Amino acid sequence: MSKTKTSFKCSNCSYITIKWLGCCPECKEWNSLVENIISQHSSGSTKIYSPNDSAPLMSLSSIDTHEQPRILSHIGEWDRVVGGGLVSGSLIVITGDPGIGKSTLLLQVAYEIAKTKRVFYFSTEESLQQLKGRALRLKATDNNLLFSDTAELTSIISTAQREKPDLVIIDSIQNCYINDSNTLPGSVGQLREAAFQLMRLSKENNITVVITGHITKEGIIAGPKTLEHMVDAVFYLQGEDRWQTRMLRAVKNRFGAINELGFFNMEQNGLQEVPNINAHLISEISHAPGSSLVSIMEGSRPILLELQALTNASKLTMPQRVVSGLDHKQVILIAAILEKYVKIKLSMHDIFFKVSGGFKIKGSESDLGTAFALLSSYFQEPLPEKSIALGEISLTGQIKPINNIGHLIKEAEKFGITTLLIAKNQTIEKTSCVIKRFSNVYELLSLFGQ
Ligand code: TYD
Ligand code: MG
Repeated sequence: MSKTKTSFKCSNCSYITIKWLGCCPECKEWNSLVENIISQHSSGSTKIYSPNDSAPLMSLSSIDTHEQPRILSHIGEWDRVVGGGLVSGSLIVITGDPGIGKSTLLLQVAYEIAKTKRVFYFSTEESLQQLKGRALRLKATDNNLLFSDTAELTSIISTAQREKPDLVIIDSIQNCYINDSNTLPGSVGQLREAAFQLMRLSKENNITVVITGHITKEGIIAGPKTLEHMVDAVFYLQGEDRWQTRMLRAVKNRFGAINELGFFNMEQNGLQEVPNINAHLISEISHAPGSSLVSIMEGSRPILLELQALTNASKLTMPQRVVSGLDHKQVILIAAILEKYVKIKLSMHDIFFKVSGGFKIKGSESDLGTAFALLSSYFQEPLPEKSIALGEISLTGQIKPINNIGHLIKEAEKFGITTLLIAKNQTIEKTSCVIKRFSNVYELLSLFGQ
């Protein structure tokens, strides 16, 4: 005898309750509880295994590993960030703030790929008239790209299964709904179900599926974080309003490097590639007190960044620390090291600190640049013109070498940098730059007249 028990499980965090609730008490997600029917056998076990159930097993040597073909758009920045073209039969998410340019980018990519492949574009948010308006603006009208404004997922999937295009684009997944589903339209459960069905579509038919997803204020894809786990790759399109530049960042990629960055400018006729982002960044750099230049690796590419510091004697008992683009603790740490070993009273100063161009620095390769920016603002003296600081700083005030310095120096030289500020024991290859070496933070004072 078997009996049936009902419970409700949160599709976001797996919390289980016996009563349906609108909001999950655990993760506070709305409409995420899905009915779960558990059929329990009187013996106590929840499933009886039949001798006919079987999963095929094979050894690695019998698995065919042919190189997966890539679908190229010939938009260089896109192809590079996705890992050298889209992989056939993969499921990919593009996410970003509303209005950042996801639909624009995908229409441009779809248009280029449709020159040689079959591409279907399902616009679940915008009408076909709106889409045509955008396509005219992008001058992307004269090829075989096919459009639909159907938002019902089952129809989308059966069309794709029947027609077998190379690429399916769904803009956006949040606006899709599934007929005859136990989950509520727009709910987290339905989003997961949609992603699961699309995953099967891509894998079973070798169709590449690209979906767009909205992002919440906190910067996560609206809906469950699990969507990120289900798909093959996740790309964020980000940008700063002041800057017309948009950054495409790979945050997960089963077929390429993460943290790879692509750059575009939003212009009258769509997103235009910025292959040489450093030229753009370096044109904005000022040779002023408080400014230092550093370089970091973003994916496979070295990026030149200006650090800007402003230190002012504080009138407050708790001096202010306002930091953007860098972990504020890292700046406070460097300030503390300078205070301890260089004997300057930064703890009595307000510190304002930022990274140019809206970039975020994660590692500690920019420590030396941070120290120089702080000192330069403190003494109101600029650093040597056309100099770059490449080094880490230890808690004991020692300047430490960094990895990958060869790439960083080569890129810096390309943009007219003539002075390298580095650790005493940093090994470097031949360079035409003047080299200034420092073993500890006290020696940094040698650049300032004070
Ligand atoms: P869109 O691609 O609709 O953003 P998303 O899909 O991420 O919400 O981009 C919309 C913005 O881009 C809108 O503010 C207008 C601007 N835009 C241009 O500046 N130039 C163009 O050629 C296009 C198509 C859009
Ligand atoms: Mg859009």
